[in-house]
Amino acid sequence: MSTRGAFSSKIGFVAAAAGSAVGLGNIWRFPYEAGQHGGGAFLLVYLICIVLIGYPIMSGEITLGRNTRSNPYRAYHKLGNRNWSLVGIWGIICGIMFLSVYNVVAGWAFGYFIEITFGSLLSIKDFDAHFDASIADVSDNIIYSFAFMFITAVIVSRGIQGGIEKASKILMPLLLLLLLGLIFYSLTLPNAMEGIKYYLVPDFSLINIETIYSALGQAFFSLSLGMGALITYGSYISKKDNIVVSAGLVTITDTLVAFLAGLMIFPLVFSIGQSPAAGPGLVFVTLPVIFQQIGPIAGKIIGSGFFLLLCFAALTSTISLLEIPTTFLVDEKKWPRKRIAWISAIIIFIIGLPSMLSQGAVESLTHFLYYEGQSKSVFDFVFDVFSDIGLPLGGLLMVIFIARKWGMKKFDEELSKGNSNYSGSFMSTFLHITIKWIAPVFLAIIFVVTVLQKFFGIHIF
Ligand code: PFF
Repeated sequence: MSTRGAFSSKIGFVAAAAGSAVGLGNIWRFPYEAGQHGGGAFLLVYLICIVLIGYPIMSGEITLGRNTRSNPYRAYHKLGNRNWSLVGIWGIICGIMFLSVYNVVAGWAFGYFIEITFGSLLSIKDFDAHFDASIADVSDNIIYSFAFMFITAVIVSRGIQGGIEKASKILMPLLLLLLLGLIFYSLTLPNAMEGIKYYLVPDFSLINIETIYSALGQAFFSLSLGMGALITYGSYISKKDNIVVSAGLVTITDTLVAFLAGLMIFPLVFSIGQSPAAGPGLVFVTLPVIFQQIGPIAGKIIGSGFFLLLCFAALTSTISLLEIPTTFLVDEKKWPRKRIAWISAIIIFIIGLPSMLSQGAVESLTHFLYYEGQSKSVFDFVFDVFSDIGLPLGGLLMVIFIARKWGMKKFDEELSKGNSNYSGSFMSTFLHITIKWIAPVFLAIIFVVTVLQKFFGIHIF
């Protein structure tokens, strides 16, 4: 184990796992998903998914990782067999594809940070048009997302304790503080209460199957589930750690940050008369308007701080994503970590190029496929397959594996390490019910319905 590295302490693991969880998913994606799927209705379904599916799956992943001290492939191989190891491989593939697109969005955030700090972003009149033009700009995007991947590789190549833990411990609290400040500001704006109502009061008539699978997909995205990231991180923690508590802290932190991001965005959206359903541009279009309103100097400082912290949040996530193939190859091939981290980063960056160019730069990639009644870009397609569908599928196979192959008894034994009161506790009953019944049934139904609806246009509900 000493050659693989380890987290130095429990708080180190929680900070790194929370750093993995808190990222673009919370601040960029959550508000626009909520805005596209009914605000309060989405929030409610999301919270239910977090409790009944997200938290149990997170506990399951960490437990598999710690028990086997292995990457996802080896973990399933050790406790199951060759066939089950395909679930681990699927997770690693999802992680690679996911990072290839995630890094593109991280590049957008990085570009906004540079533009607001050193350029003239705040003097722009039409932020909508500016966002569309920015994401279609080939050279800027290549530079920014390459820079992002480069920094990620530098940190991952140094190993577990060096960069990852330290950065997370300082930056996460700062991000939280800045969010709180912006929430207070946004609540003072005219029409803010409209936004709050939209976000916090659910309109039940808006809940349909699409709300449910979007919320579920968002829960997996946001908690970093289904691709073995937490099996990987779990493989580095101590037997003395209490997994039930650690997973709980990570889940709460992640959910809190997403909730706060919504609380910041929706009053702003309603105060400037924007549509909450603006899609992926939401944060990039709404926030600069507000920074502009705050004034040229204060707006620049706050705006630059915001995008910098967003970049850091994204960085702790890209680090954990790159850690998935890196740990896998370090374990399996015994190649040096440094070389693996760099080679993986370069390959994943190249895999991401078509997604990057599918935001308006190259027509055939921008209108790549047609499903769900609309034209989809490569970017959309990769997120649909490897995130919205791929991650819940990974989660489904994992709960089936734990409940039917590995066995709940062994699962309990591992969870009892570092938690002597676990056996017979409320949490043990809760995890049994969710992992054996609620999660598999729910995930299987949603998986089938989503695939039929998205790709075959067949509506069951
Ligand atoms: N949870 C991250 C976010 O919300 O931005 C995304 C992510 C990071 C997913 C790492 C998966 C992962 F392994």
